[in-house]
Amino acid sequence: MNALDVLTQRVSAPQLTGPEPTAAQIETLLRAALRAPDHAWLRPSRYLLIRGEQRRQLGEIFLQGMEDAHSLSAEKQEKSRNLLTRAPLVIAAVTRVVEHDKVPRDEQLLSTGAGVQNLLNASWALGLGAIWRTGAMASSQAVHQALGLQPNDVLVGFVYVGQVNCRLKQAPELELSDYVSEWTGKPE
Ligand SMILES: Cc1cc2nc3c(=O)[nH]c(=O)nc-3n(C[C@H](O)[C@H](O)[C@H](O)COP(=O)(O)O)c2cc1C
Repeated sequence: MNALDVLTQRVSAPQLTGPEPTAAQIETLLRAALRAPDHAWLRPSRYLLIRGEQRRQLGEIFLQGMEDAHSLSAEKQEKSRNLLTRAPLVIAAVTRVVEHDKVPRDEQLLSTGAGVQNLLNASWALGLGAIWRTGAMASSQAVHQALGLQPNDVLVGFVYVGQVNCRLKQAPELELSDYVSEWTGKPE
């Protein structure tokens, strides 16, 4: 697939199904993620693969970590348990933030964000679907603990990856002038 087509035409796939991406595909995705720009080569990003039974296991931990878990309807409880089963593979993207005099925290988070974008684009290039999600699960302390996150880790999001199982929207045609302007160097 043409690289520029991938960059300009990629869309997120909200509904995904199996089979799981192959080992070779997953390796390609992760190598793409690790090519994200990274100030001072701090290598701040970590990627955790969650698949198979572990998806529901982590969903259960998420549910049990919710303060109001017991007051939720059985249907809502099941929905929380099954959040990660919406794709055969979920990649948790984490920034392990380090203290650095030239590279502030935000730049380290942005590096992981760029890694996530590479995951999305590489998925599209491989003919897979993917979507970046956060939601309550990404900020759940129970989930952070279960994933073994350290106090300086930030869970930037979950990237759901699988086979597309829905009609994809077309990439929107945005008007460049709404977002882009030329700086003339002259006062307004
Ligand atoms: C940091 C971040 C978090 C997001 N979290 C969610 C989410 O929790 N649930 C969701 O449906 N979409 C979420 N999105 C939006 C989707 O990933 C996607 O960008 C959106 O559906 C637009 O689709 P597109 O990528 O095809 O333009 C998030 C996007 C970003 C950048």
